Amino acid sequence: MRLLCLILFLVLNYIVYINCETNEIAVLCNDNDPCTVDRFKILKCEHTPKCVPQNQCEIATCNKKNGDCSFQQKCVSRHACEKAYCNPSNGECIYTPTCISGDRCSIASCNETTGACNIKPLCKGEEICHEGGYCVDCSDNNPCTTDFYSPYYGVCINIVNEWINCENSTEYRNCLKGCQTDNCRTAVCDKQTLKCHTNYKDCSDGDLCTLDNCDPEIGCTHQAVDCSDNNPCTIDFCDNEYGCHYKPDPACNGNKPCNVNSDCNDNVACTKDVCTNGYCEHTLNCGFDQHCNREYKCEKVRFEN
Ligand SMILES: *[C@@H]1O[C@H](CO)[C@@H](O)[C@H](O)[C@H]1NC(C)=O
Ligand SMILES: *[C@@H]1O[C@H](CO)[C@@H](O)[C@H](O)[C@H]1NC(C)=O
Repeated sequence: MRLLCLILFLVLNYIVYINCETNEIAVLCNDNDPCTVDRFKILKCEHTPKCVPQNQCEIATCNKKNGDCSFQQKCVSRHACEKAYCNPSNGECIYTPTCISGDRCSIASCNETTGACNIKPLCKGEEICHEGGYCVDCSDNNPCTTDFYSPYYGVCINIVNEWINCENSTEYRNCLKGCQTDNCRTAVCDKQTLKCHTNYKDCSDGDLCTLDNCDPEIGCTHQAVDCSDNNPCTIDFCDNEYGCHYKPDPACNGNKPCNVNSDCNDNVACTKDVCTNGYCEHTLNCGFDQHCNREYKCEKVRFEN
């Protein structure tokens, strides 16, 4: 027990006395507050708080009755959807959400009372989300294609998917309705465009002595070309490669009386008409590699005997 011997003087907030046990001069600074630490320093009493937080993230409270210290965290979350962190170097509170969608194609929503986290896709219905968080509707309303978005090209891609059974769809059936197939044509429904592609049968046989046609019932028909020119003084021929051609009929020579060549004109341009010994004669007036065609003109052909 400390023995107080002689009070020397009372100065403002402290008492100076002589400790009689040690004969030393001492100062009494007690402020009777259990929450302060009392010290005499540079001729003054100093009272500093007893409860000091360890860092800026703590809050200290002192019990005024017994001086007990208690400490709390400074940063606490304000609702069920956030976590609180404290930066120990400056005491700054940082709040982070507990409910995060993880990508731009989904949306997170959090109930602040229960903390229940709900993550929903950003895009609705047929829309496709691409990574920037944009929704694109790539649907082409074609039941035969698979629709997707190419982030690389930035375009929708609709590819015919043979694994999809689209043959029964209204769209495909409508396409087939316009796709008539018969003996002259085949038609297929293009699954990409849902339009009909028709291929007509090629009936040409390369033979100029036939007329090539197509009959939907029976298919290709090849009717013989009629080369007849109704001129009794020509012989009518047909060549598979060159078609109709004509030669003067020698039987007509010497039948018609004449005075001059002009009396013999037979209106066949490729014949030479001459009056010989009072009678008309007609000869082919074309080169050796020519024949007389349908228009009675000389026409080059490959050499034939
Ligand atoms: C949060 O959840 C509670 C309890 O389920 C509910 O009553 C309340 O309506 C919800 N709040 C919102 C904003 O959804
Ligand atoms: C197409 O539809 C009909 C009736 O709507 C059904 O009977 C048939 O099985 C379907 N075919 C396919 C390949 O799905």
